[in-house]
Amino acid sequence: MAAQFSQPILAISGSLRRDSINTAALRAAAAAAARDGVVVRIDDSPRALPHFDPDLEFFPPEPVLRFRQACADATGVLLAVPEYTFGIPGALKNALDWMVGSGSLYRKPVGLLHVAPPGRGAHVREALDHVLRAHNADVTHHTAPIAQRDRDANGEISDPQIVQALRTVVGKLAHRASASRAA
Ligand SMILES: Cc1cc2nc3c(=O)[nH]c(=O)nc-3n(C[C@H](O)[C@H](O)[C@H](O)COP(=O)(O)O)c2cc1C
Repeated sequence: MAAQFSQPILAISGSLRRDSINTAALRAAAAAAARDGVVVRIDDSPRALPHFDPDLEFFPPEPVLRFRQACADATGVLLAVPEYTFGIPGALKNALDWMVGSGSLYRKPVGLLHVAPPGRGAHVREALDHVLRAHNADVTHHTAPIAQRDRDANGEISDPQIVQALRTVVGKLAHRASASRAA
């Protein structure tokens, strides 16, 4: 199994918040997936990218080149994104805009991990779906609600049921990624 999934999955949080529940979910997902030999690399690039500028699209700054390469190298991408004002947080939208020129997400398996409680986050789900379809990404949605009370004293997610749900999400994405590589 380890050899089958040797290529990394890139995990990107839509939140820059230090105590972010979305980022914690990705950490837990990465740790759980490691048990199946799946490498999940958490990428914090949206924090560091300059504002998207179409004039720089074809000769972008170094951090953009690195981010594009990380996307290109990944077999799949896992996104966990909070809803901000009924939409996508600006830093993540900015990062996605930089990906248009490179086509780094073209036909890439992308799993959207939704951790918002039931009844919340519908707008960002829809917005991400639209935007990623414009990238021609191969998008699937996965819901694993996580509340503050599900976090331990260190802010990590260790509840066995949630960890298992996250493991399943990454497992499905890894299989899709592996199948799409083989096709
Ligand atoms: C600027 C801002 C706008 C927000 N707008 C919405 C919103 O439109 N709908 C919603 O359900 N939650 C909204 N929220 C709440 C966040 O989605 C929620 O706190 C989420 O858990 C934050 O994710 P994080 O813990 O990963 O940072 C907003 C939060 C902020 C800071």
